[in-house]
Amino acid sequence: MEPEKTPTKKFDQIKETATVSWKLLKLVWQVDRWLFIGSATASILPAIIPFINFYIYKLIIDLVVAVVSQGVPIDFNRLYLLIGLRVVTYFVLDVTFRTQELMERLFWTKVPIYLNEKIFQKTVNLDIQYFEDSKFKDLLEKVRDSVSWRPQQLVSYLFMGAQSLVQVIIAFIAIANLNPFLVLLIASVAVPEFINQTQQSKLSWGIWERNSPFRKKFWYLSGLLQHAWTIKEVKIFRLAKKFLDEIRSIQEKFYLDNAKLAKRNYGLNLIFNALSTAVFIGFEIFVIFEALARRITIGDVNFYTGVVSNFQSGLGGLFRNMTGVFENSLYIKSMFDILEARPKVVQAENPQKLTLRRTPLVEFRDVTFAYPDSKQKILKNFSLTINPGEKIALVGENGAGKSTVIKLLVRFYDVQEGGIFIDGINLKDLDLEDWYRHVGVLFQDFNKYEHTVTENIGFGKAFEEVNVGEVIRAATSAGAHPMIQKLDQGYQQMLGKTFEGGVDLSIGQWQKIALARAFLRNAPVLVLDEPTASIDAKAESEIFNRVERLSHDKTVIIISHRFSTVRNADKIYVIDNGKIVESGSHSDLMKVDGQYATLFKLQAKGYQ
Ligand SMILES: Nc1ncnc2c1ncn2[C@@H]1O[C@H](COP(=O)(O)OP(=O)(O)OP(=O)(O)O)[C@@H](O)[C@H]1O
Ligand SMILES: [Mg+2]
Repeated sequence: MEPEKTPTKKFDQIKETATVSWKLLKLVWQVDRWLFIGSATASILPAIIPFINFYIYKLIIDLVVAVVSQGVPIDFNRLYLLIGLRVVTYFVLDVTFRTQELMERLFWTKVPIYLNEKIFQKTVNLDIQYFEDSKFKDLLEKVRDSVSWRPQQLVSYLFMGAQSLVQVIIAFIAIANLNPFLVLLIASVAVPEFINQTQQSKLSWGIWERNSPFRKKFWYLSGLLQHAWTIKEVKIFRLAKKFLDEIRSIQEKFYLDNAKLAKRNYGLNLIFNALSTAVFIGFEIFVIFEALARRITIGDVNFYTGVVSNFQSGLGGLFRNMTGVFENSLYIKSMFDILEARPKVVQAENPQKLTLRRTPLVEFRDVTFAYPDSKQKILKNFSLTINPGEKIALVGENGAGKSTVIKLLVRFYDVQEGGIFIDGINLKDLDLEDWYRHVGVLFQDFNKYEHTVTENIGFGKAFEEVNVGEVIRAATSAGAHPMIQKLDQGYQQMLGKTFEGGVDLSIGQWQKIALARAFLRNAPVLVLDEPTASIDAKAESEIFNRVERLSHDKTVIIISHRFSTVRNADKIYVIDNGKIVESGSHSDLMKVDGQYATLFKLQAKGYQ
């Protein structure tokens, strides 16, 4: 259903367009004032010069007519001066156009660089919850595709709009000077035309907006048909036809909507064109009769004909440019929405630091948490104490909340009740930068950096210089060393298929690289979310033997569905329905014979 358009809403749209335009002008003004002023001036001048030129030509014609028909002796000085002036105005116009071209080129190479930098700065400082929010993802998508050209378009339309406005005003004054009633006549056609144009642009925006969900679907579907990681299933499950049909129906709907509007506009535009042509011809006839009555000169006839055609083209330009401003401002608004987004997780005024390099005590005290915009409590009065140096494991069904515990531990989200304490300090009072140096996390959905092996592992400690020995040691602990040695370029091998010379790894090999990255960090608290999901059994047991030896003074939190990984932990916590339902060592929990024992036996049975 289309929301009802009330007059206030229309006014709000105009206000919003103006606000966005103003903000953008202020922003680009900061990039380079001189280029801004230069571009603006170069845009306005072409509106003024043609009138001067028409006027000079009028003077020349009058001079010629006087000589030819009235036998007045020719004033060569005046003629040459006028011709000279005409040459100068043409020259100035040419210089203006070329200067405008140059300035815009310079200006609009600079602005996207500035804007991209600003947007990247902003997004890296926004919290994860923005990125897990589909509305914000939409915004990013919209802006990513348009930041390089939408701002330029909007500003150009504004400048061109100003140019048209100046053109219209000058012509208006000149015509009013001839006869004020003519202005009324012209306005009687221009005003309805203006309303017609606004209506048309509103309707086409309506189509655009109504189709927004379909467009999203379109891009999503075309992605399915084009990406290496989706096309495999699409081929085997023979989904291409189904998706293509969907794409086709979306595009057809879009075409029909537009065709309907185009046909409607066709008739109206034809009527308005005929009207303005009639006015133009009427004006011409009026001017000719004025000349016949000797109220104006032959030069004036030429001058006013030029003025009126300039008035019409100025008016047309004004409509077009305003539509352009409006359309682009809708995109630029998304850009400002991003630039004005405020981080939701805020650092304390005077954040505290931890004692460096000592393994801290980690406590969840009575934590209750639900994701933003969701009522479902993922954790309910959840308490957990992890002593320095302890190796613990979290187990539980899919969706039990294990990964959520980790996201809270690194304060991607703030808890609603209770608190998380590190060495007795509430996480909310802790300096996050400092806390992040104390934790190494291997996320369930770890990154596969399309960089060299060394870089991939070295990213674990980007804040300090990493030497080759360290990288190799981390790779060895993660069981990645033998496989890296087999790569053509060894540790210098480029990974991934995006860049030339890169090789792709198997999922398990990627996981080993990611694990090496986490190990390299050598942080006092190491968190591994499903670290061995894709790693073979032999490598897994070797990795954990090494983890034991390497990290005897470190806290290790492991999340896993594989009991072979879990059973060696000092303490195992079973999470169910947002709460810890069982805890203890493997043998403790087997003795209790509860959920853990049941699941363990189930998995063991599979191997018998
Ligand atoms: N960003 C999010 N926004 C809203 N709900 C979320 C978000 N991430 C996870 N959830 C929900 O929170 C619950 C717990 O998810 P979580 O990822 O913590 O489970 P998990 O125990 O790690 O499961 P798995 O074993 O499958 O990895 C799930 O019901 C999930 O739907
Ligand atoms: Mg998980």
